[in-house]
Amino acid sequence: MNVSIFGLGYVGAVTAGCLTERGHRVIGADVQQTKVDAFNAGVSPIVEPELNELLASAKTKGLLSATTDAAEAVRASEVSIVCVGTPSLASGRLNLDYVRKVSEQISAAIVAKGSRHVLIFRSTMLPGSTRSMVTDFFASTPNVSIYYCPEFLREGTAVKDFREPSLCVVGTNDGNAPATNEALELLGEKAEVLAWEGAELIKYSCNYFHALKVGFANEIGRMAKFVGVDGARVMDVVCRDEKLNISRYYMKPGNPFGGSCLPKDVSALSSLARMEGVNLPLLDNVLDSNEAHLDLLIKLITSKGVRRVGLLGLAFKKDTDDLRGSPMVAVAETLLGRGYELSIYDPSLNLSRLIGRNEAEINRRMPHLASLLRDSAEEVVGESELIIASQKCVSVDALRSVVKAEQCVIDVNGWRELSALAWGYEGLCW
Ligand SMILES: NC(=O)c1ccc[n+]([C@@H]2O[C@H](COP(=O)([O-])OP(=O)(O)OC[C@H]3O[C@@H](n4cnc5c(N)ncnc54)[C@H](O)[C@@H]3O)[C@@H](O)[C@H]2O)c1
Repeated sequence: MNVSIFGLGYVGAVTAGCLTERGHRVIGADVQQTKVDAFNAGVSPIVEPELNELLASAKTKGLLSATTDAAEAVRASEVSIVCVGTPSLASGRLNLDYVRKVSEQISAAIVAKGSRHVLIFRSTMLPGSTRSMVTDFFASTPNVSIYYCPEFLREGTAVKDFREPSLCVVGTNDGNAPATNEALELLGEKAEVLAWEGAELIKYSCNYFHALKVGFANEIGRMAKFVGVDGARVMDVVCRDEKLNISRYYMKPGNPFGGSCLPKDVSALSSLARMEGVNLPLLDNVLDSNEAHLDLLIKLITSKGVRRVGLLGLAFKKDTDDLRGSPMVAVAETLLGRGYELSIYDPSLNLSRLIGRNEAEINRRMPHLASLLRDSAEEVVGESELIIASQKCVSVDALRSVVKAEQCVIDVNGWRELSALAWGYEGLCW
């Protein structure tokens, strides 16, 4: 393929070198003459292992050139990849000026070229940016297919990362498979396909997650130092658990966390740190984040304008009768306090078997729980205008057979199958 690459910095130069390695012909475009000259000489404009060799070899094979003229780059290619910088403004906000500038140039050049063109945005941009570029610059550009493909390479190992990417993502207008093959062929055949906004958010989610991990490890390290143990050893052991810690577990938007351990333990460590003057802002705000999620659920319920609400699941998860710290108990308590009529089904809950603190807590917070409990999901659904599915304690098929079209279901547990059902359905956060 003939590919033009806009922006010959870390991402653009590596992309160029690696695409020429696969036999594609690349024309680079940059506003900096020195980078263009370096490219034309087959020399890397940046320091990155293996890149000089790749570009020198591409130059020898006649696969590499560069220009400061955007129109020339578009004319010489069927595919353009945008890798220009997206720096922060002084306020911290994202500066999309360079992306806007090249979008304007590329759009005009495609019109002038008059033949089909594929445009791939690769610069990191906030969700909604690709769509706004399309609206602002490509709404009336004929014969153009536009994709957003985030880059996940790390400086220092960028060539290796390009050859073996940690993740390949292609964003399309509607989240359906790309209409043309170029994005997949160039940047990853096994790519995950999402709508532009989803692909854009994945890039930020990954970087946020990396940042969060560094912050988390550092805060645990500070706590370790305070208690006089080796933080590196502590984190090393934490990372050995690949079932719950370094895994997909707990990584699904849905319920706020609850139960008898997480809220208590998060609160205990934060309190100790605060008392002892160990500054752990990340850990300290975890409970606030959880509260915000619970508040959102309650707002979602109350915004529906109904009075009869059914809860499927009261304990903090399926297959336990532990009500301590359950977010659904907090939901029920709030709704009862506001005069809602509640009915509840939880197959694991047998009030006569509740003992100890579990019993004491429920007696204190929901003394009339017994009168709200029903023997089946059907009974709850039959009595309710709005159903909150917080656990997978009932099968989708069972629900489908009893829920009526006018009823609304809120799925708190990321229970994807529910969205396929025909009712007024809403997930808490997806
Ligand atoms: N550096 C990384 O490790 C990395 C990794 C993944 C994603 N990203 C993202 O990729 C994008 C590029 O990052 P980078 O580190 O390569 O940036 P960079 O600053 O190294 O390079 C950007 C290049 O774009 C050029 N440019 C600016 N305006 C232009 C225009 N109108 N026409 C042509 N070229 C123009 C600049 O001259 C510069 O050479 C950013 O959005 C960044 O967030 C970077």
